[in-house]
Amino acid sequence: MSIPQFVRVCEMGARDGLQNEHAVISTDDKVRYIDLLSETGLTTIEATSFVSPKAIPQLADAAEVFARIHKKPGVRYPVLTPNVRGLERAKEAGARAIAVFTAASEEFTKRNINMTIDESIETFGDVVRNARENAFWVRGYVSTAFGSPFGDIVLPAVVLDVTRRLFDLGCDEVSIGDTIGVGVPSQVDELVPLLLRECATDKIAFHFHDTRGTALANVYAALQHGIAIFDSSSGGLGGCPYAPGATGNLGTEDLLYMLHGMGIETGVSLDKVRAASRFIGGVLGHELTSKTFQALERALQPGSGRAAP
Ligand code: HMG
Ligand code: MG
Repeated sequence: MSIPQFVRVCEMGARDGLQNEHAVISTDDKVRYIDLLSETGLTTIEATSFVSPKAIPQLADAAEVFARIHKKPGVRYPVLTPNVRGLERAKEAGARAIAVFTAASEEFTKRNINMTIDESIETFGDVVRNARENAFWVRGYVSTAFGSPFGDIVLPAVVLDVTRRLFDLGCDEVSIGDTIGVGVPSQVDELVPLLLRECATDKIAFHFHDTRGTALANVYAALQHGIAIFDSSSGGLGGCPYAPGATGNLGTEDLLYMLHGMGIETGVSLDKVRAASRFIGGVLGHELTSKTFQALERALQPGSGRAAP
């Protein structure tokens, strides 16, 4: 298997990123952030979530955010929908792409969406059917694929089973999530061939949180198996409030730096992603964790590059 020449990067900052921030972020700032991301060349930008505002208060303004963002032609803006109620809200706001989300850990699924895995698949059956009847693009997520925050064992066979069930419902693509950033490349090497026995390579994405610094190594391992869709967040934002210990996604800048350095095309401008990160970092008022973002920003500091006295 040769490594892909082109990778599609799916931007998570506005959804996975902002859902996990403590500060209240204004609707104007969310819209500006997404509009900046739309100028980068990214073709998949997860915009927000139509979930219960009690579960994720940070994204309670989903309808207004979605309605106000400038939808760039050629860019897909998926939104999370946990049930038909969420889908109806998404439709009303003008969405054309959704994501349903379950997991390979029963305990996490219960805490995140208050359903068993079986119940989630049943609930999504109606969501995906309805979405497809309306010509929506549909993504499925399998979270906690490399480990659960609650200590329950996650087996690759369960990840495969849940993935298969999401495709059976009619998902166009399934993203395999390392929600708490515990995975290592040998696990990727074990899981990917199992998935690819039954699923097409161009329908599987990986979503690595970088909690323990293994996300890029895991991307590199997945690339060796031909995987060509990766999720990341500008600046390295992200985390799930229902997964204790989860920190940010792999930074989009880090992913782009490595892919471009390897000669793999993405169509995305690292400089423009960095500009979007700089904007949202200023709003959030804390350091962003992407190493590449940090290195590039440091290079802007007066005096950088001078020999130490
Ligand atoms: P529940 O409490 O079991 O459901 O929540 P419910 O039907 O009893 O609803 C509770 C309240 O929410 C009710 O309001 C409903 O009307 C309302 P009340 O009567 O109490 O005033 N409600 C809604 N409101 C707006 N939009 C909706 C909606 N649905 C119900 N769609 C539920 C179940 C699934 C709704 C809830 O648990 C929920 O919304 N969970 C979302 C959690 C979430 O968003 N987690 C983060 C995303 S997953 C993630 O980050 C992982 C990922 O990044 C991949 C990875 O890293 O691995 C994707
Ligand atoms: Mg995530």
